[in-house]
Amino acid sequence: MTIGWIGAGRMGYEMAGRLARGGADVLVWNRTRAKAEPLAKLGATIADILPELAARDIVFCMVSTWDDVQQVMRAMLDRAKKVPRLVIECSSISLEGSTELRKMLAARGIEYLAAPVSGNAKVIKAGRLSFVCSGPKRAFDAALPYLKMIAPAASWVGEGELARIVKICHNVFLGVVTQSLAEVTVLAEKAGVPRHAFLDFMNQSVMGSTFTRYKTPAFVNLDFKVTFTPKLLRKDLDLGLDAGRRFEVPLPLASMTRDLVQTMIGNGMTEKDFSELLVLQARASGLQLKPENVEVEDGLA
Ligand SMILES: NC(=O)c1ccc[n+]([C@@H]2O[C@H](COP(=O)([O-])OP(=O)(O)OC[C@H]3O[C@@H](n4cnc5c(N)ncnc54)[C@H](OP(=O)(O)O)[C@@H]3O)[C@@H](O)[C@H]2O)c1
Repeated sequence: MTIGWIGAGRMGYEMAGRLARGGADVLVWNRTRAKAEPLAKLGATIADILPELAARDIVFCMVSTWDDVQQVMRAMLDRAKKVPRLVIECSSISLEGSTELRKMLAARGIEYLAAPVSGNAKVIKAGRLSFVCSGPKRAFDAALPYLKMIAPAASWVGEGELARIVKICHNVFLGVVTQSLAEVTVLAEKAGVPRHAFLDFMNQSVMGSTFTRYKTPAFVNLDFKVTFTPKLLRKDLDLGLDAGRRFEVPLPLASMTRDLVQTMIGNGMTEKDFSELLVLQARASGLQLKPENVEVEDGLA
């Protein structure tokens, strides 16, 4: 099948790159064309305008928010004569946005798989990304060979928008875990334990995880090159809090973490990785962090 790919940001670039490297016929469009151009070296074709993608069999989408998804879908489909058989939408968006997209696509006879992901660009490169999918099972089965080219793990959790709530819960957990790890790391350091020694123990303990391991280089050496921005994390925590209101579930830790992420953003900490929550925590504790310059594993090799 021919593939269209919308969005070559941090995530979309690496995901489309895996399809192209795997030999798929991929036509990529990105709003900022220059960011997509290096994908041509991997075998992808770069589209000049979005409507070119409408004639593809399957179109993947990986942009930022529901507003952006809506804009790109309209721009692709509004005047299209031929439309894709299947759209696979991977951005982290709300249940409501996803429902509206399903209606919009159904009106044009297009099947739709909601397929958000877990993992950052480095995780994709390491071949450790995972998809959580919902929508018609036959659409999932048709998409599976392509999903597997991008990520080894792809779960189908049911019909409709169920994948969206799974992803929202996942990212609420991501925010809360990162804040909690920042708190205990600063506590241990202020009491005299170097961060690399503390995290070495944590990573080998039952509390250690793929996530604590791959955030360890950032925490130890203060390399906050962005993997996921504070604004995108705030979006996901807000989606979690909205879902909490809708389903009448209190989320006290998520609520507090959302405000801490807001504090980062209010202080202008927007351009680096969200794991700068560590820096915010250190400031609140009167601790001046310094890079430890210790070589530590990220567990992804
Ligand atoms: N980074 C992560 O670790 C991670 C992990 C899992 C899920 N996610 C989710 O994946 C999505 C993408 O994240 P990312 O980190 O790849 O973000 P990113 O690097 O900021 O990339 C965003 C992409 O969306 C495009 N875009 C945004 N608004 C647009 C619009 N109105 N019209 C057309 N294109 C638009 C951007 O185009 P330009 O290049 O022209 O700006 C870019 O290609 C988000 O929903 C995020 O929550 C991220």
